[in-house]
Amino acid sequence: MKQENPLKKIHLTRRKFIGYLIGGALAIEGLWVMLRSSGRQDNTQKESVLHDAGTVDSFASNQIYPFTSGQFNLIRYKDGGFMALSTKCTHLGCIVGTNTDKSGFTCPCHSSHFDIYGEVLASPATRPLDTYPIIFKDGHVWVDIAKPIKRQKFEKEQLYYA
Ligand code: FES
Repeated sequence: MKQENPLKKIHLTRRKFIGYLIGGALAIEGLWVMLRSSGRQDNTQKESVLHDAGTVDSFASNQIYPFTSGQFNLIRYKDGGFMALSTKCTHLGCIVGTNTDKSGFTCPCHSSHFDIYGEVLASPATRPLDTYPIIFKDGHVWVDIAKPIKRQKFEKEQLYYA
């Protein structure tokens, strides 16, 4: 009767084990990359943190109002709609500055440019600035700074009207 080499059996088992280990690691990394790139975000479970920006009437149209304490810019557009844009650059998180001509925002770190709706005009950023939900209550504009909203592009539905 032929004897099986016990070392060969151990070698194959070890090889399989390493294969499974590498396969598992790649699967986990792939899942992580997929979730990260999908931009999915579940804000529904988070507690709201409402920032009182001021009375609705105190905001003129076609203006940018910086709120450094809340880390957002409140913009009131020509048609009276509001949007609260995060100041955090979507590239690597630096704080964007408002262009001197008020045309949009520029990141000081790697020069990404964003228009007045937060859309990317120049890379390396690849997606628009996040927005925050806005609530109108008692004549005031309240910005929920606990629930940033990731988006792929600007859509008119992202504007809030009093
Ligand atoms: S962090 Fe803003 S462009 Fe890199």
